[in-house]
Amino acid sequence: MNTTDQKAQAVERMFSSIAARYDLLNHLLSLGFDIRWRNTAVAAFSGGVENKKILDVACGTGDLAMALALAGDDSTQVVGGDFSSNMLAIGQEKVAKADLGARLSLEFLDALNIGHPDGSFDGVTCAFGVRNFADLDRGLTEMARILKPGGRMVILEFTTPTNRVIAAAYRLYFTRILPFIGGVISGNRGAYEYLPDTVYKFPTPDQLSARLGVLGLAEVGFTPLTFGICGIHTGVKPAPTEG
Ligand SMILES: C[S@@+](CC[C@H](N)C(=O)[O-])C[C@H]1O[C@@H](n2cnc3c(N)ncnc32)[C@H](O)[C@@H]1O
Repeated sequence: MNTTDQKAQAVERMFSSIAARYDLLNHLLSLGFDIRWRNTAVAAFSGGVENKKILDVACGTGDLAMALALAGDDSTQVVGGDFSSNMLAIGQEKVAKADLGARLSLEFLDALNIGHPDGSFDGVTCAFGVRNFADLDRGLTEMARILKPGGRMVILEFTTPTNRVIAAAYRLYFTRILPFIGGVISGNRGAYEYLPDTVYKFPTPDQLSARLGVLGLAEVGFTPLTFGICGIHTGVKPAPTEG
């Protein structure tokens, strides 16, 4: 097994181990802001999500996929995919209760090897997922590949605040308090130490935007949210040029 596969397997195991407490901790540790952030990601489809087929990559327990389906109507088709069967199982229970009919389905999916044809979706989303990819560029390339020309990519991800006072307070919370609470409730403190660790090592918004540009996406943009704790990257797959 190569190092990318080993890293992916470790990530899968970690999320599977915290799946039962994942939603509770998300809402608690973000003081409920995560719900607002995902709804803002849905709103990044400025023309609405009606008549759109959207793939939510690394969907976890399905919150963004459900928000997309709820924002649409019966013409909206959302597929959520993740490689953690425990995260998906929690998601399936929520989807069954939400009664979204054929608008939403969840499936096993490896973000680094998406089993859907080129150009098969009008939109692709990923909330707090790309940071966990064992190979970021390969995941982003796959997300761009399955987009139709004119299709939109929307990525919600943590960043670090730019204001120095807020950044210092946030670092204290993120590296000390959050791992403590996360560890007590989930029983896996390591998973909640991994979170700030990966955020501080992740490319800056400018660097990620540049990578989306290299992939050939147009209209690349970044919108910071809540003091820059996280933000939304967007890009559009251009139509192929003639000749
Ligand atoms: C922090 S959770 C985010 C879940 C969800 N999108 C949300 O907004 O809560 C990260 C998710 O990425 C998934 N993940 C990481 N690498 C993946 C990959 N290569 N393929 C599929 N899922 C992956 C994990 O299993 C986990 O469910």
